[in-house]
Amino acid sequence: MGSENTSKLPTHIAIIMDGNGRWAQARGQERREGHRAGVEALRRIVKDCSDLGVHYLTVFSFSTENWGRPRDEVSFLMSLLERYIESDLADLHSEGVRVRVIGRRNGLSDKICRLIDRAESLTANNNRLFFQIAFNYGGREELADAAARLARRAANGTLDPELINGDVFSAELLTAGMPNPDLIIRTSGESRLSNFMLWQGAYSELYFTDVFWPDFVREHMEAAIVHYAERERRFGLVSVSAETD
Ligand code: IPE
Ligand code: IPE
Ligand code: MG
Repeated sequence: MGSENTSKLPTHIAIIMDGNGRWAQARGQERREGHRAGVEALRRIVKDCSDLGVHYLTVFSFSTENWGRPRDEVSFLMSLLERYIESDLADLHSEGVRVRVIGRRNGLSDKICRLIDRAESLTANNNRLFFQIAFNYGGREELADAAARLARRAANGTLDPELINGDVFSAELLTAGMPNPDLIIRTSGESRLSNFMLWQGAYSELYFTDVFWPDFVREHMEAAIVHYAERERRFGLVSVSAETD
């Protein structure tokens, strides 16, 4: 809180990776081909962020609402995360990437949970890029879970409810210890948050592009960063130029 970044390169970029299905449909392919291509795009973007000097990258890859998709698609998305961690973890680690997966663990297979634990513990001391994957993630669920934990502590006498403020609440979220996203990018022409980082995104700059996620490359990321650099983030205050008038 109050620590939002004001420099020109966003410290923390978050991406709602959307449009895999439409990308595939536009090619007369199955939706799963879009998800496969989406993983390729993700691989490239992780590298690009690391090269560009971005410190934190969060990607939204499976929402709590996505369970409602056809069973085949859901299980394909589960297997994609599994295969991604299995095939890329060693490279991510050697490139100094710290991996964290945020979202609810219930509903995920034991195998995926073990892989996530392995990825997080293996890379825990890396500090080139903090890469956070939001998987089985929902902003409302995250807030409700945090509220429930605080309420339990208040009820058992270990927390004075009077002390609950924004900082205490932030520390209870899955993103604890991480700065809020400076820039949230959503691909595929949709301009909504779809339950992503509802608390953390309160003062994020939002950038929407029509490009489908599998087509999103470094140039698009650079365009988003340029857009970000041109914005003046006021955080509810008056413009710096108005202040000196
Ligand atoms: C984003 O692409 C990936 C997930 C939500 C898992 P979509 O699968 O939502 O693709 P569209 O929006 O249907 O094109
Ligand atoms: C948001 O995309 C979730 C992810 C990108 C993982 P959706 O495709 O699920 O969102 P809606 O349904 O268009 O709002
Ligand atoms: Mg979508």
